[in-house]
Amino acid sequence: MHNLEGRDFFDNIRRSVKISHFVASIIPLALLVYFSVQYVYPYVSGGDSSNIPIHIGILLVLAVVVSVLGLILSTKATNSSIESAQELNTKINSLFDITKQFRETLHLDILLKKIMESAMALTSAESGALILYDEERNLKCRFSSGTNSGTVQQGVLKPGEGIAAQVAETGKAVLLNDVSKDGRFNSGPDNGSGHKTTSVVCVPLIYAGETIGVIELRNRKQGHFTKQDESLLSSLADQASISIAQNRARERQHSDFIHITEMLVGAQDYIQNRKGHARRVASYANLIGKELNFSDAELKKLYHASLLHDIGMLKIDPNDIWDKGQSVHHPKLGHDMIKSISQWRDSADIILYHHERYDGNDALQAKDKDDIPLSARVLVVADTFDVLTSQYSFTVHLDPETAIKDIESNAGTQFDPVVVKAFKSALTDTGLISS
Ligand SMILES: [Fe+2]
Repeated sequence: MHNLEGRDFFDNIRRSVKISHFVASIIPLALLVYFSVQYVYPYVSGGDSSNIPIHIGILLVLAVVVSVLGLILSTKATNSSIESAQELNTKINSLFDITKQFRETLHLDILLKKIMESAMALTSAESGALILYDEERNLKCRFSSGTNSGTVQQGVLKPGEGIAAQVAETGKAVLLNDVSKDGRFNSGPDNGSGHKTTSVVCVPLIYAGETIGVIELRNRKQGHFTKQDESLLSSLADQASISIAQNRARERQHSDFIHITEMLVGAQDYIQNRKGHARRVASYANLIGKELNFSDAELKKLYHASLLHDIGMLKIDPNDIWDKGQSVHHPKLGHDMIKSISQWRDSADIILYHHERYDGNDALQAKDKDDIPLSARVLVVADTFDVLTSQYSFTVHLDPETAIKDIESNAGTQFDPVVVKAFKSALTDTGLISS
């Protein structure tokens, strides 16, 4: 229920309860009037009020007292129930907000911190720990927070060690409001720490039927942990499990992607006998891109294109690599290889045009010079600078100052003058050339 709708809902309940109490208070009042008229009035009207029977007087007073007391107690109980329901409603609403935040958090460490902070806030816990299985199925504390978080067991938890390990093994939540009476609690980390754990609530994190860890909370700030706390924490853990599993899958995919990129870049540099070429080109291209105020997304596209700009060479027979008639096809071959990979697709056009001249003469792929993306013009300058200045080069080996002069002399024909100017400025700023 949305917060505003929730407030309206509880206001309506309060109004209904007030009406019920009003109606309920009329009934004893009517009875009082009836009995007064029936049994007291005759004495009063006859001037004989001193002879009203004592038992009738007591009964009437008692009826008034009991009615008033009943009304007060009933109002208090109803208000208290409404407040509890409203508090629960607020917590459930905050749980929706929290889980939305989990879904939007891309970095695992930040996600774990958010999960821990949310769990503690939701249950008023003093401290807590998020303990996860790693890839070797070792159970380790990944994040702890709060006043006595230092007492959380660090390192690998042994099977059955403490509440957390047992919850991880059984997949069942545990709620203890007096840990001293339960043999499952491991008091070792508490000893000598100056902190005393009195209560614990611990729930499993389960994803696709597999326990991936636990959330353990210690010592409630006010009162004891309740079944409601356990239930709310379990709901939070369900959402947290999904976000943790998705986050880990994303990180694993990213890591695999980096390794695959490394392999391809290594193969590409090896086949051309240009060790480190692609990375240096990527670094120069990044300097130019930043100088030209490229957005982060543009810099990322340029980075991938720079790393893989000669990947098409892998499709050419190694014996024909230096045959210009064959190697001239590598931008198109590289483009076709890259465009089918979703994470690199946006870099494909930069690769396709990375040997085009600025003036459009001797076009390889571009039908019109305006087809050439600015990033491709950046890449060709970065590529040329590295070829001119690197030790591996079998043509020339120029110092950076001479190389940039050589490139400048071709600005407006082979190279985009804006790009060349930006590169010279960036190289000056980095101290690679003097101004
Ligand atoms: Fe190339």
